[in-house]
Amino acid sequence: MCGIVGYIGDREVLPVLINGLKRLEYRGYDSAGVAILGKKPHIYKCKGKVSDLENHLKGKADSGNIGIGHTRWATHGEPNDINAHPHSSYHGKFIIIHNGIIENYTRLRDRLTERGVKFKSETDTEVLANLIEYIYENGNVDAELAVRLALSKVVGAYGLVVMCTDEQDKLIAARRGSPLVVGVGNEEYFLASDATPIVEYTKSVIYLNDGDVAIIRKEQLILKTLQNEDSAPTVQQLSFDIGEIDKGGYDHFMLKEIFEQPHSIEDTFRGRIRSEEAELHLGGLYDVMPKLIDAKRIIIIGCGTSWHAGLVGEYLFEDLARISVEVEYASEFRYRNPIIHKDDIVIAISQSGETADTLAAIKQAKEQGALVLGICNVVGSSIPRETHAGVYTHAGPEIGVASTKAFTCQVTVLTMMAILIGRQKGLISDEKYRSLIKEFTEVPGKIDKILTHSEHIKKLASLYQNATNALYLGRGYLFPVALEGALKLKEISYIHAEGYPAAEMKHGPIALIDDKMPVVIVATKDSSYEKIVSNIQEVKARNGIVIAVVTEGDTVIRGMADHVVEIPEVGNIFTALLSVVPLQLFSYYIAVMRDCNVDQPRNLAKSVTVE
Ligand code: F6R
Repeated sequence: MCGIVGYIGDREVLPVLINGLKRLEYRGYDSAGVAILGKKPHIYKCKGKVSDLENHLKGKADSGNIGIGHTRWATHGEPNDINAHPHSSYHGKFIIIHNGIIENYTRLRDRLTERGVKFKSETDTEVLANLIEYIYENGNVDAELAVRLALSKVVGAYGLVVMCTDEQDKLIAARRGSPLVVGVGNEEYFLASDATPIVEYTKSVIYLNDGDVAIIRKEQLILKTLQNEDSAPTVQQLSFDIGEIDKGGYDHFMLKEIFEQPHSIEDTFRGRIRSEEAELHLGGLYDVMPKLIDAKRIIIIGCGTSWHAGLVGEYLFEDLARISVEVEYASEFRYRNPIIHKDDIVIAISQSGETADTLAAIKQAKEQGALVLGICNVVGSSIPRETHAGVYTHAGPEIGVASTKAFTCQVTVLTMMAILIGRQKGLISDEKYRSLIKEFTEVPGKIDKILTHSEHIKKLASLYQNATNALYLGRGYLFPVALEGALKLKEISYIHAEGYPAAEMKHGPIALIDDKMPVVIVATKDSSYEKIVSNIQEVKARNGIVIAVVTEGDTVIRGMADHVVEIPEVGNIFTALLSVVPLQLFSYYIAVMRDCNVDQPRNLAKSVTVE
């Protein structure tokens, strides 16, 4: 969590920093701050959002060409002005922004306090600022060495940028466990937690690796390791445009991203699937395909929405490729003592590619000898670099904190993988393969059709905007969709919602049913259709309110449910891709009607880089 930005060059730095912080605000919005090395160094910071910082800056800010900025998701110390970043060291020589956690900060703080160092904030970051200055003042070393020596004493994760008031010609950046990207301009450099603040200035970027320390002057970047060995920077080109990180006329990023799904799925398909030739390729898996074909078990790990996509993957791999699958919360997996066999394959799913729990689980699986594959959205993020092979979703930047298009693109990749493995194992006939691919390529058009019903879904939302609880039910492929629908509602509208396999309702949740709580039932025509019709009757028999997502033309459920939302007819394995869309819209409209901050729900951050 937390977003960090930095700039060195000839531009006026403040607009670059503020602009960058706005782009990164999805990572945390408890407080924001900037520091500028002008005639005198200045730090401006306050509790709240970047807009609060802008108000705070009115009539105050200095000009300068070197600066850093931070938007915070609080870990150590409550969100307030003092705990906001940037932090300066006790004599003010070092100013620092940090994303991550210094795990041994209490011990370091105690040691520094014993030596007379005074602290202003409750943060772990200030400990690092003071440690750097302590080493600088007492070790007779330059700023760069002070930073490297301090970092060698740190246990934990960091992406950080340091300015030294004695050495005003440089920024020092370092990374371990938290992402940091350098944008390479013409005699100027940009730093940020991800590439979104950089793309409007340059498409040339360097993704720092764990253990890298970059000493950045206006005209030169020197990359070293923490141990002071030279390291060669690799400059890569960004593959997205500035237009992809604007709201594009929508009120919220979330709505834009919901409506982008047909296009995003086509991007996931691009170069990989062709209906006319009935072709499906996943270049990223080419080398590991023999292992996937022989796999006895696949373990899918992820968190939140990515975990839900993994659950859809479980049905897909078992149905199409006949491989047994376990889906694990990454956060639980690593704290157990998981048993991994040598022919097991671990698939890590993550939009951001930076989720700390997922990264830690990947490391554990690798240590136990597993082949680990990644399904990620953010190119160059940590997870694709930690995994042996993988597939990018290419959903484009997802800025809304609530994940939408990332989910459908993850499910798209999982579906491609399952079809490909099933086909190569000889489990899918030529004819079935052709028809699956044809139907798959029709999915974006079918989602487009669902999106044309958005006004109907908005009306439904208006009826239930004051609900205090909601239950979401589904079976088979639609059970993860029920979980995802419930997560979307609770995270952006703060209505308590639970997702359940529909048949489990009678084992407990049925007691909740009354004439006030909406029960959203995903009940499209599939193999368990008859059963779910019975579940709807069970709810109605108890005066429950049923909102059903059904297949176009379904008159049976229409006759029973209070409301229906239709989706086009589609084969079993593609139902999750379609049926989640009305649930995303339903949550979105309810949250807007409740005046919630849809793109920045309270307490959340897009990229969860703490365990
Ligand atoms: C929910 C949501 C989160 C993320 C989770 C994992 O809308 O966005 O539940 O899915 O934090 O994040 P990634 O996919 O980046 O690993």
